[in-house]
Amino acid sequence: MEKHIRAAVIGTGGISGVHLSFLKSRKDTEIVALCDVNAENLERRQREYGGRPYNDFNAMLDEAKPDAVWLCTPPQVRREPILACARRGVPVFCEKPVGRDASQAARLAAELRRAGARVQVGYLFRSIPAVRRLREWMADDEVYAVQSLYACGMGVHRSSRAWFYVKELSGGALIDQATHNLDLLRGLFGEVKEVRGMATNPRQRKKPGYTIEEVIGVTLRFAGGIVGSHLHTWLGDRWRNEIVISGVKRAYRLNLNQGLLTVEDGPETRSFQQPAGSIHAHQNELFLSMVASGDWSANPSSFDDAVKSLRLTLDCDAAVSARP
Ligand SMILES: NC(=O)c1ccc[n+]([C@@H]2O[C@H](COP(=O)([O-])OP(=O)(O)OC[C@H]3O[C@@H](n4cnc5c(N)ncnc54)[C@H](O)[C@@H]3O)[C@@H](O)[C@H]2O)c1
Repeated sequence: MEKHIRAAVIGTGGISGVHLSFLKSRKDTEIVALCDVNAENLERRQREYGGRPYNDFNAMLDEAKPDAVWLCTPPQVRREPILACARRGVPVFCEKPVGRDASQAARLAAELRRAGARVQVGYLFRSIPAVRRLREWMADDEVYAVQSLYACGMGVHRSSRAWFYVKELSGGALIDQATHNLDLLRGLFGEVKEVRGMATNPRQRKKPGYTIEEVIGVTLRFAGGIVGSHLHTWLGDRWRNEIVISGVKRAYRLNLNQGLLTVEDGPETRSFQQPAGSIHAHQNELFLSMVASGDWSANPSSFDDAVKSLRLTLDCDAAVSARP
């Protein structure tokens, strides 16, 4: 019989709904507790998904004694809750990024290592079937050029919450969104040695309340000799997230929004479409299986590794911000 897992969530804002609906759909999992300092968010999620409500995660951990915690607080709120879980031996699924300051995140990583903490970070592309298939199909190829594009219309329609447009709060496009692509590129191609970047605001100049960059380009030199680019726009027609890899043998097109991989192999084109459903489900399934088995060897995104992705993301941001 599958092990019954008692799950708890810390931080019941936007992204928690994705994880809670996954947890609610599972027969082997019970949502036992939710925690938030914002009573409105807490009550809303509690009405939707059940679980005993708490406003203090230490009290929640001591009383509800969950087997696993989903940490869905903002990146500035990582250290205390994650260490509170580690001290009690509770595994954590931690939303990305692991912080906003790379040195602080590295210190926390060392504390977690010393505590023997079990943490999976929510860099979700590492776990999706289309990426697993890409690795298989690319295994015998040599790659020296890769291109990543993330586009959305957030700067055109101004449809997101106001704080998103304040870079000091959201981090802007690179830190909130591109970090997923940068992490995936690191996962596929190794470490980046050099970053150059530029950004523009062609539609609306920066002003108080609108301090994000609208269009961003970064060029990456990987240790293995690959040159890559990431282009990001908030002035796009729709949500697009695509990676194009030019190999010596083949070209690979990965549509991350659709979970669709297309490979041009000589005169032939073949494709792989991953099953429909929430793109977050794959990382959550892996996390649950590691919690149940106690075997963390397949962890797709450890805290230590995610610190490197944060560092790369911040390096890209610094390269962009250095420009007038
Ligand atoms: N993987 C993805 O695709 C994805 C998508 C959206 C957000 N995220 C990440 O998830 C995290 C949360 O984002 P969000 O959009 O849900 O933010 P949010 O602001 O909607 O929710 C965060 C919640 O955490 C609560 N919180 C803050 N401090 C707390 C504390 N000490 N104890 C308990 N609760 C506390 C807040 O009150 C709020 O309800 C961020 O790191 C974000 O980058 C990831």
